[in-house]
Amino acid sequence: PLPAPFQVPLPLPAVLRPVARDSGADHYEIVQRPATAEILPGLRTPIWGYQGTFPGPTIESRRGRTAIVRHRNELLVPTVVHLHGGRTPPESDGYTTDLVLPAGGWRATHSGMLDPDAKVTRGVRDYVYPLRQRAATLWYHDHRMDFTGPAVHRGLAGFHIVRDAEEDALPLPRGERELPLMITDRAFAADGSMRYPSRDSTLSTVPGVEEPYVAGVLGDVVLVNGAPWPIAEVSATRHRLRVLNASNARRYDLALDPPPPGGPAFTQIGSDQGLLDAPRAHDHLPIAPAERYDLVVDFGRYPVGTEVTLLNRTGSGSTAYVMRFRVARRGAEDSHIPDRLSVLEPLNRTQAGVTREFSFRGAPSGDGHGWLIGGQPYSPSRIDARPRLGDVEVWRFVADLHHPIHLHLVQFRVLSRGGREPGPFDAGLKDTVDLRPGEAVEVIARFDGYRGRYMFHCHNAEHEDMGMMANFETL
Ligand code: C2O
Ligand code: CU
Repeated sequence: PLPAPFQVPLPLPAVLRPVARDSGADHYEIVQRPATAEILPGLRTPIWGYQGTFPGPTIESRRGRTAIVRHRNELLVPTVVHLHGGRTPPESDGYTTDLVLPAGGWRATHSGMLDPDAKVTRGVRDYVYPLRQRAATLWYHDHRMDFTGPAVHRGLAGFHIVRDAEEDALPLPRGERELPLMITDRAFAADGSMRYPSRDSTLSTVPGVEEPYVAGVLGDVVLVNGAPWPIAEVSATRHRLRVLNASNARRYDLALDPPPPGGPAFTQIGSDQGLLDAPRAHDHLPIAPAERYDLVVDFGRYPVGTEVTLLNRTGSGSTAYVMRFRVARRGAEDSHIPDRLSVLEPLNRTQAGVTREFSFRGAPSGDGHGWLIGGQPYSPSRIDARPRLGDVEVWRFVADLHHPIHLHLVQFRVLSRGGREPGPFDAGLKDTVDLRPGEAVEVIARFDGYRGRYMFHCHNAEHEDMGMMANFETL
């Protein structure tokens, strides 16, 4: 039986303190280790956690201030850490074969070890993040070739929030009125363990999931910050919600019940890569795996005492709701949403020297991979695009089914969707864009930052593990 919803208080991930700060950088240490968590009341769930927690601790950084994160792998399998949305040099980007082998040793051979360019370390690795990028809600998660899905599912995901002076100068809700919300779905066995249908339960050699799950692994329990359908007490004021869909495969369509009288449910102020140019009002909000939306909800529109449920309009039964807010008390309003939030560099087609096209499709049955980009399964040794550093390019994606497409390194804008203008949820700078069945989407990006080999892939974690990943190299 599923636990009753809206009973567990919303947890907030601990903010990680640096172990040292010097003139050049903030230094952090994270141990990746097995642990147990009480996710369902009264049951112990084995997890893999950054610092033994799920979500992992939140890292808070300033734009342009380097963060150096030393990860120590005390799990029984190799890991790889990727800072999603980070503008990161290639050696710290968590390339899928740059394994950190378990500190306790590793005897098996992982397919990723056949990549001659892989930079494998044993036990520890320092990831260096220069963070020369605007304020945004980034997140870090495991990215090991063939096994990202099960590793993230067991708990290897956390927030990394970048702040800057531009955003600080705006009168947005802050402090306890700013809530990071990591939404995931999981299925549980009767003993409290999370159920993930791996073909290889040791998560060592055989990739992929059992046949019925190749489209993606879903669960019937919705977790926010690792708690099932939690409840948060809020004051009757505006709140900023940094919403991340960290689910392996589930997409949500968020709405508020009841909707706020006399106003939109959500005022969107930011996208994956930070502030929009101007706020946008939404009465509902679709969110695909790895996408982030920065939202303001005005709980001041509700009478004190109101319970407001965050719904998932595409869910049914236990997945039709996500969490609840209780408007518990009055509060002094000290925020507002300015009409102008930021200035974004205009990018238009005439700047683009190159247009590339990639299809995202299921493999013909019997292929053994499942999911292909441009008709091919992932291989570390094949580079599918070589943009010159600093160049603007248009990339056109075509999908058979739903696929959330993510590019490392770059920030892009959606240029068209289904042959038309971008949709209402495509605003701002993004790093992940959701393709709908049969749809083509064009994005435009400046391939700036660093030279090297980077990945782009579907962020449905099961698609990604079963071939739907490719490389580009900035020259
Ligand atoms: Cu969020 Cu390549 O990943
Ligand atoms: Cu996909």
